[in-house]
Amino acid sequence: MTPVLSLRNIHKTFGGITAIEDFSLDLHAGEVVALVGDNGAGKSTLIKIISGVHPPTSGEILLDGEPASIPDASIARERGIEVVYQDLALADQQPVYMNLFLGREPVKGPLRLLDRRRMIAETESLIKELDVRIPSVRATIRDLSGGQRQGVAIARATHWATKLVLLDEPTAALGVAETARVEATITALKARNLAILIISHSLDQVFRLSDRICVLRRGQQIGVRDTAQTDKNEVIAMITGLT
Ligand SMILES: Nc1ncnc2c1ncn2[C@@H]1O[C@H](COP(=O)(O)OP(=O)(O)O)[C@@H](O)[C@H]1O
Ligand SMILES: [Mg+2]
Repeated sequence: MTPVLSLRNIHKTFGGITAIEDFSLDLHAGEVVALVGDNGAGKSTLIKIISGVHPPTSGEILLDGEPASIPDASIARERGIEVVYQDLALADQQPVYMNLFLGREPVKGPLRLLDRRRMIAETESLIKELDVRIPSVRATIRDLSGGQRQGVAIARATHWATKLVLLDEPTAALGVAETARVEATITALKARNLAILIISHSLDQVFRLSDRICVLRRGQQIGVRDTAQTDKNEVIAMITGLT
């Protein structure tokens, strides 16, 4: 099976600082890979490289086996790559269904009016499929809880992603119950056969959600493990370098 995404020997420096050193990873459709490591390890930088925010200093990116350049975030989206961040990028004053389409709204007729009926229908079906529990797709974002908002952000990414969803600490700002809801949403996402890369500080979460775990330490790729064949002690030792 051709990987959806291959990173080959990625390096990234910012001025004199090496943020990523020789990173290689294959991501397949339908799998969840967790990226773990201490603060400053280079996790967010990797997600930014994949989503077109930063170019790699060297190394190769392949999408569906083809060499690809991802020069900016809009090209990443065109290629089916969506990102969810911990700080929500939603329009607070707008209803849920508008947020699903921000900047990409469908229009109808010669006057190119917003096709609200279609937006509402598509949003309702996705919210149901992912089991995001909100009062209504017509609800305004600011009236939702943090967990509900993050559910909407994940639904939006899911709606547009054809290949890859990248999640950078998606539950960092949430309480326990809300985190559980968002984890259920991420699990539902897997059934869509997307590849999922998630950054998380919670090893409990990493072990609940991931198929594989990739460890970074100060920009170096320490190793990749099948989640079923490792344990927290090993992963902590890899993260810290202490045994
Ligand atoms: N835009 C930037 N300019 C300069 N240095 C950066 C930039 N982004 C990240 N870095 C540096 O790269 C390293 C990795 O950062 P980051 O990827 O944010 O780590 P993590 O997400 O694992 O906490 C850090 O040393 C950080 O200071
Ligand atoms: Mg980070």
